[in-house]
Amino acid sequence: MAINYSESTDSNLITRSAELPEDAGEGSLRPRYLSEYIGQEKAKDNLRIFIQAAKARKDSLDHVLLHGPPGLGKTTLAGVIANEMGVHMRITSGPTIEKPGDLAALLTNLQENDILFVDEIHRLNRTVEEILYPAMEDFAIDIIIGKGPSANSIRLDLPHFTLIGATTRSGQLTAPLRDRFGINLRLELYTPEELRRIVFRSAEILQVDIEPAGADEIARRSRGTPRIANRLLRRVRDFAQITSDGVITREVADKALTSLEVDHMGLDNLDRRMLRGIIEFYHGGPVGLDALAATINEEPVTLEDVYEPYLLQQGFLIRTRQGRCVTQKAYEHLGLEFRGQQQLSL
Ligand code: ADE
Repeated sequence: MAINYSESTDSNLITRSAELPEDAGEGSLRPRYLSEYIGQEKAKDNLRIFIQAAKARKDSLDHVLLHGPPGLGKTTLAGVIANEMGVHMRITSGPTIEKPGDLAALLTNLQENDILFVDEIHRLNRTVEEILYPAMEDFAIDIIIGKGPSANSIRLDLPHFTLIGATTRSGQLTAPLRDRFGINLRLELYTPEELRRIVFRSAEILQVDIEPAGADEIARRSRGTPRIANRLLRRVRDFAQITSDGVITREVADKALTSLEVDHMGLDNLDRRMLRGIIEFYHGGPVGLDALAATINEEPVTLEDVYEPYLLQQGFLIRTRQGRCVTQKAYEHLGLEFRGQQQLSL
């Protein structure tokens, strides 16, 4: 697939990591090196080896695919990889790269061994994706110069670079794209213990006084997700500051999180609406994702990518071939009577 280079390119596609907007203040809490990054031990162990080996060879790191639910630190981990490799990272996202020329501009502006981070890579359009194949494999792109019968194709060499793709839906990547990533890492929901350490680390950076029991409470109610843990920490800090002496104790954390309608298992309003919807409209399931989404007036992808992973992990929900079903645990959690489950094939 060749690029017609006369297509417009947009320099706003590119952000240097150092210029990243501090997404709602998260920026300062982002770990910069593997030694600061808590959790994802398997991914980190593998990355340490691959990074060390690439650096020893003075080579670019092989292309990396990061996948898993939102909020688990895919962008953060990409930044960590760039810092560990000692290279620049340019950040863009699948839907931002509209035309082949946009991608060509990004690629030709990279320096040797730089990282190009493409968030939501499953949303790249097909013509853009086809430019990526030779770029990833041969570090080259084909450019068409001119129009009509006199058009000529020339091959342009690119610097050796690393593509880091992030996605919440690796199943939606085409096989040719997926196969071109040499390193494939799945990020998992964090354990409460890992989240407790993240909350402590963030509290120290934000200079918030927090008791171990207060950190435990926030960690347990953050649905396995550091982004949520850090957001809740900030909100609990506000409560501690205004309603008590500024110290985050278990009592303050509990009061604040209850006011924020985050229950003791970390479920929020939409989690509960989803479980309740399956029970009230579909007798506990099975129900298809689209029907459920229409019933509770939400986008199917939001339910699938953002809400389901934690509900499945905690055993409130199961996925069967016939659709989603809630479990006895969900009825009990919502204080509803459980009248048995339909016979299901998993
Ligand atoms: N802040 C957000 N995610 C983090 C992580 N995985 N480790 C340390 N701090 C974090």
